[in-house]
Amino acid sequence: MFKLENILRENIKQLVPYSSARDEFHGEAKIFIDANENSLGSPLQKSYNRYPDPLQWKLKEAISKVKGVPPKNMFLGNGSDECIDILYRAFCNPGRDNVIINPPTYGMYEVSAHINDVELRKARLLENFQLNLETIESLIDEHTKIIWICSPNNPTSNSMNREDIEMILNNFDGLVVIDEAYINFSKHRSFIQELEEYPNLVILQTLSKAWGLAGLRLGMAFASTSVIDIYNKVKPPYNINQATQEIALDALGKMDEVNQMIRTLVEQREILAKRLIQLPMIKKVYPSEANFLLVKMDRAREVYEYLLTEGIVVRDRSRVELCEGCLRITVGTESENIELLRQLQNFR
Ligand SMILES: Cc1ncc(COP(=O)(O)O)c(C=O)c1O
Repeated sequence: MFKLENILRENIKQLVPYSSARDEFHGEAKIFIDANENSLGSPLQKSYNRYPDPLQWKLKEAISKVKGVPPKNMFLGNGSDECIDILYRAFCNPGRDNVIINPPTYGMYEVSAHINDVELRKARLLENFQLNLETIESLIDEHTKIIWICSPNNPTSNSMNREDIEMILNNFDGLVVIDEAYINFSKHRSFIQELEEYPNLVILQTLSKAWGLAGLRLGMAFASTSVIDIYNKVKPPYNINQATQEIALDALGKMDEVNQMIRTLVEQREILAKRLIQLPMIKKVYPSEANFLLVKMDRAREVYEYLLTEGIVVRDRSRVELCEGCLRITVGTESENIELLRQLQNFR
């Protein structure tokens, strides 16, 4: 059975977290001279001289309205990358514990494992890009702390079968992290409503994709309050800066615009997929549930280099296992997609 205290690192259990000035006093006061801020202000029209809310409650309230998850079940990170890294630091003992990834997948699960000196076990996806449950099961031992599942997956662009994920959630006694960075582009339902059912579930989402705010760096983790408490214990005190908190709050009031962008990108994705497959060098355009296409073609590396000379940058995945001969192409604007197709037509 999953028990958080069984998988938490001993040093984190014992950790006395940093207590900031804003942790020790919140509320109204006439004079704030408790945090060694600059009392005179900032050299800007707008002042940023005060430290931001360490737990970003206003922003979490706004996210709660959009996601239907209470703020207490939310952690906000400086990008999903911080949400990923903190799980390693809180749950994985360097040199002893291990995690499982399902490659080909998003690279940061692996990089973050190496940074934290945590053993990485790989359960390669099946040929149809679905989870290999047998291999996953064979890799689990008493030191396996996290299974990373990316759905929709980068770079394969498909969603993982729901029953497979449920099987893992029901049978694995460590954390199951589902990275749903691309969920807004998918036909499949998020796992976000299942948090109460699975105490070992962590869902990652981000404002970097559908919300069009990659530059802000705002990642979200949704989980049980016990997992969120650990996140808050380990995180840097003011990990989400004031500007990000304000701008993200503003953006969360603009759902209609975001939904329109999602519709346009999905529409453009389907148009691009149809046109790409008509080109002679294209062998396959994989069905996509994300804002990018994985495209198999003849002479992928040469095509990549040719596109570069034409000022178009795509991602070369041609040497990635299971993606041999593939380029990963983000859906552009309508005119960018037309220009890409035009250049591909000219490739000899
Ligand atoms: C699956 C996946 N998760 C997370 C991220 C990064 O998210 P963030 O910008 O929130 O760090 C990416 C970026 O490409 C991604 O593909």
